[in-house]
Order: sequence, then structure tokens, then C-alpha cells
Amino acid sequence: MARLAIFTERYTIRRSVELTALTNFRMAAAKLGHDCDFIFRPEIMNIPRYDGLFIRAFTDPLNTSYVAGRVAEAYGLRVIDEPDSIVVCCDKVNMYQHLMRAGVPMPDTCFLTEDEVTPEQARELFESFGTPLVLKAPNSAFSAYVEKAHDEQQFVKIGKRFLRRADRLVVQQYLPSSFDWRVTMLDGKVLFVVKYIMAEGAWRIHDRDEDGKPNVCTVQAVEKAQVPPTLIAVARAAANAIGRSLYGIDIKEIDDDFLVIEVNDNPNIDAGLEDRTNPEVYRNVVRHLAGEPWEGWV
Ligand SMILES: Nc1ncnc2c1ncn2[C@@H]1O[C@H](COP(=O)(O)OP(=O)(O)O)[C@@H](O)[C@H]1O
Ligand SMILES: [Mg+2]
Repeated sequence: MARLAIFTERYTIRRSVELTALTNFRMAAAKLGHDCDFIFRPEIMNIPRYDGLFIRAFTDPLNTSYVAGRVAEAYGLRVIDEPDSIVVCCDKVNMYQHLMRAGVPMPDTCFLTEDEVTPEQARELFESFGTPLVLKAPNSAFSAYVEKAHDEQQFVKIGKRFLRRADRLVVQQYLPSSFDWRVTMLDGKVLFVVKYIMAEGAWRIHDRDEDGKPNVCTVQAVEKAQVPPTLIAVARAAANAIGRSLYGIDIKEIDDDFLVIEVNDNPNIDAGLEDRTNPEVYRNVVRHLAGEPWEGWV
């Protein structure tokens, strides 16, 4: 019997799809003969009593969740997300550099410092990457700091705004698509695959209309037989470029190419959405944390 803990925060259990997923993890643990406690911030000093820790809260090197991860690691627990992966995935410059070094297919990408955000630089990039360009702040999540620039003026304006709170700007070739593939992997194995279908008129998963109102995607379950083998190969290469933790890999399919947009740590596993065609996700995560063998999707 393993003693497992799920570190969570109040805002996690406020969303019913996440609360139900947490309950599903705990029921899966009980069925497999393991103990599973939910622990909150004041209880992180109890982490050394456990064998495995699962973080289900926003991850950032400045958040308590990261401290919980480091404590778990220091005491030899199995931990998801691995703290080193949190550090890499929370910084898009670092994350993309890992992908580039490993030769993972991705959109044309470059990183600029503030003095490089000029109309001349913009002109060069529009020429080499095409129009529009996608600009990102390194710490963006939920599309908060991901915008398109259609001309040099917009490029400089958005770039400077993003650089107020960052020292590097990510600039990317724009790859339009009506959906993103999401491959969720743990320890190099596939847990499940879904599609995030953009809302009408949206180009980001978490899009906003002109008034800032959310225009979010729908989650579409994908059967195992419908998953292209190349998609999995690309997702696996991306995951392995970062580590052995739990990752949600977002991939665009453009003609017959698969290009990685992002490797997310702390990926969504929401009840009724990501788990629809793969209820075994709960069991598999528990088995991993308990140090038991489990088999991936493909
Ligand atoms: N180069 C790109 N071309 C087209 N769409 C993109 C590009 N980069 C990101 N997007 C879209 O924008 C959204 C957010 O981008 P992402 O890099 O994942 O940032 P975040 O971490 O804020 O979610 C995703 O839905 C993705 O499909
Ligand atoms: Mg994203």
C-alpha cells in the first residue's frame, strides 16, 4: 500500500470538473489499495510522510505548489509535476530552447530583447516568417500574453507591452488551424489524446472577443484508432526533450506536418472532458505515483 497526497488549492476545488477529477483520483487509489489524502498549503510540512505527491494547482516557480514539489523531491517521493519541468515549462524561452535542441518540429521561432523590438526587425521577421506574426510573453498561460501582429507598428506596440514584465519576447510564424491536438503524456507514455476545437472566429484555445469576453474551445474526445502515428511520435519527442513528468503537448496539424506549439506542465485532466474516452487515466496516474507498472495508450 502506498501513501499518496494530492496537493491542491481552494481555486482548484471551486471548479466542479476539477473537483470531480480529484475525487476520481482518490477513488482510483482506494480501488488499487492505496491511501490518498488531499493536502492544502498549511499541510506541506506533512509531505515527507507520503510516498508520492500529485500537484493539482497552478504551477509556477513562485507558487507554493513548486515548494511542495521540491519538498517531495528532497524527501525522495515520486512527484508530478517534477519541479525541474515546472521551471522549464513556465518559461516559453526555456521550453522552446529544449525543443529546438532536440530537433522537435515547431513553428519558426525567435527570441528578442527589448532593444531588438524595432520596426526594422519587424520588417525582417514579416519577410522571413510571413504575416501575421504571433508574439508571446515567456510566462503566458491561458493565452493571456499571446497576440497577433499584422504590421510593424502593432509588432512594436505589443512587443514593448509584453516586455514590461519580461526580458525576452517570443516571436513565431502564425500557423492557423481550427483545432489543436492535445497529447497528454506521463513518463514518456501516452495517457490520452483529445482535440481542442476553437470557438467560432477564435484562433486561440482560450480566445477573447473584442470586449475581452472569453470565447473558449470545446474539448473533443478522440478514439485511439483515430490518432495519427506521426502525431504521437512528435509528441513523444517533445515530451522527452523536457523530461519524464506529466505534460500536455499542444500540436498543430498543417497539411501533413505536426508542429509543436507548447509543452504544458500541469495539464488539464477535467472530469467529463479530457477523461471521456479514457477513464483509466486516473488509475494510470495513481499507479505511476505508487511506483507500479502501467501501460500507455499506444
Ligand atoms: N504560432 C502560432 N500560430 C497559430 N496559433 C498559435 C501559435 N502559437 C500559439 N497559438 C495559439 O494560441 C494559443 C495560446 O498559445 P500558447 O503558446 O499555448 O500560450 P499559452 O501558454 O498562453 O496558452 C493556443 O491555443 C495556440 O493554438
Ligand atoms: Mg497553451
